[in-house]
This record gives sequence, structure tokens and C-alpha cells, in this order.
Amino acid sequence: MRIFVSRPLPEQAMERLARRFEVAVGPADRATTAAEVLAGAREADALISMLSDRIDAAFLDACPRLRVVANYAVGVNNIDLRAAAERGVHVTNTPGVLTDATADLAFGLLLSVARRIPESERFLRAGRFDGWAPLLFLGADVAGARLGIVGMGRIGQAMAVRARAFGMEVVYVQRRPLDPARERELGARYVSLEELLSTSDFVSLHCPLTPETHHLIDARALARMKPGAILINTARGPVVDETALVEALRSGQLGGAGLDVFEEEPKVHPGLLDRDDVVLTPHTGSATRGTRLRMAMMVCEDVERVLDGRPPLHPVNEPVAGGRR
Ligand code: DGY
Repeated sequence: MRIFVSRPLPEQAMERLARRFEVAVGPADRATTAAEVLAGAREADALISMLSDRIDAAFLDACPRLRVVANYAVGVNNIDLRAAAERGVHVTNTPGVLTDATADLAFGLLLSVARRIPESERFLRAGRFDGWAPLLFLGADVAGARLGIVGMGRIGQAMAVRARAFGMEVVYVQRRPLDPARERELGARYVSLEELLSTSDFVSLHCPLTPETHHLIDARALARMKPGAILINTARGPVVDETALVEALRSGQLGGAGLDVFEEEPKVHPGLLDRDDVVLTPHTGSATRGTRLRMAMMVCEDVERVLDGRPPLHPVNEPVAGGRR
């Protein structure tokens, strides 16, 4: 059976796949184009896709052998889950294993913006540090500040644990509150989005990208935020209206932003690139060696299971009976 892997995975995973399947793989040194993913998947039984690969009904129709799309990410907003289900194609993802790595990066961005770490590092490397000074690079206080978490799933909860360890107060929104015991354990309080935006010193986004969360943080939401607040986004770029964000930073309404994801990835709004109050990372939330290996083993296992006729361990859709299984 044939598998197309859109970008090379850690070596152990590539070796594991090659032991059982005929494997073709996209380029290591650049993003695979949409035409290349389609060409690779056209005759394949399984596709290991990246979060940047758009898998829609037309794509699935052009790949009649496909039985599983294993997305090398927890977010599956790049895949039309219903179109896949209707065609009997399983879709899987990689939940759980990237929780800590992503929360670490989100908290790292929070500290970096609050304490102006990249900006002061650039200053020092430029040879401009001429001695300790009482007012040099004053930043925002973290201990005692309020963090508003939007989306209290696994990663949001891991962010809350980190925030509490740093002495922050935590409020959150999501569709339904956590159970009271878990809330107590996390020391987090369920509030309305309005209250979260207007009272939080830091707002960190951890919700999936859906039609409901697209531009959740738009000009109106930004205007409701506490003046000088800092926005962190390690979820998906389009949750934030990037043009409105640039405007809120320019006007001073926002005190800074830490962004790992962008509205039109890999493009970054030019208004963000030259700002010292913004810290940018190239969508590396889950980029630790251990995490990426665990994610790779998860997609391998689910591909093997589906091609062996067994249900996947991490399904995100329910293919209709009588499909390609
Ligand atoms: C995901 O998994 O959705 C992240 O954005 C990349 O690991």
C-alpha cells in the first residue's frame, strides 16, 4: 500500500512507515505545494498531511484510493471533516502529546513580551548596554496580574497551571465551564468573554479555529480589552483580525503581542514585523524533539490501523459505512 507524507517526519517514523508501505514524501527544505500534495496523494491509500495542506471535497474526489488522512497536528481546521466522512475517509490528529510543549511556548511568549526579552537582547547585542539603569527596559508585572484564557481545553489548562505557578490570577472562557473540582484544582474562574477582555492584563488564545472563532478577536474585541493588555496567540492565526491587531498596537490600546501563528501563514502582516512590542515565532508551539516524535508515532499508528482495517485511535470524524474502508 502507498502512503504520501507531505513533509518528512522524524527519522524513526519514516523508517517505521517504510518497513510496511511504499512511501513517497514531500520536500524537506520547503513547504510542499498544493499541487505536490495532490500529485502525491492521488494514488495513495493514506496521506499524512500537514496543517498547511488544504484537504477539501475536490481534493478527496481526486484521490479515490485514500482511506485515511492523518493530520500531523492537533488542529484539523485545514480538513473538511464532513466531506471526508461522506467519502468514508478517516481523519485523525495528534491530541495530548503536544499540550505541554505548546503551553510552554505560550507562556514563554507571555514572559518575553512582558519582560521585553527579545527587544533588550537586540539592544545588548547592538553594543548599546552601557551599565545598569533604574529605568532600563521596564516591563509588565506578571505575578499578581490577571490572565484570561480563551479556550480551556488541554492546552488552555496547561497554560493555567503555568500561570498559577507564576502567581497569576486566572479567568477563562469556553463553551461550557469545567467541572467545579477541576476549576478549584486549576484555581481558574469561568467568566464571560466581555469580562475576560475588559479585566485581563494578558489574554491567551487556545481555542480551535472554527467558523465561530474566526476573527473572535476583532477590532471590537480589541477595543474592549484593558488598555495596555498583552495578547498571546498560539492557537490559529485567523482567530485574530491581524489588521485590527496592528491598529490596536499602533494606537497604544494594546501593550504588546506574542504570536506563534498568523492569519495568512507563512505571511506575516508587515505592521507586526518592525514592532519591538511584538514577539514572533514561526508556528513552533509543538516543536520539541520529543513532542514531534510522539506526534509522528501517533500518525504512523493510526495509518497502520486504518490500513489494517481497524479503527484509528485518534479519530476526528466518523466515516459513513460502506465508504472506502
Ligand atoms: C497543532 O498541532 O495544531 C499545532 O498548531 C502544530 O503542532
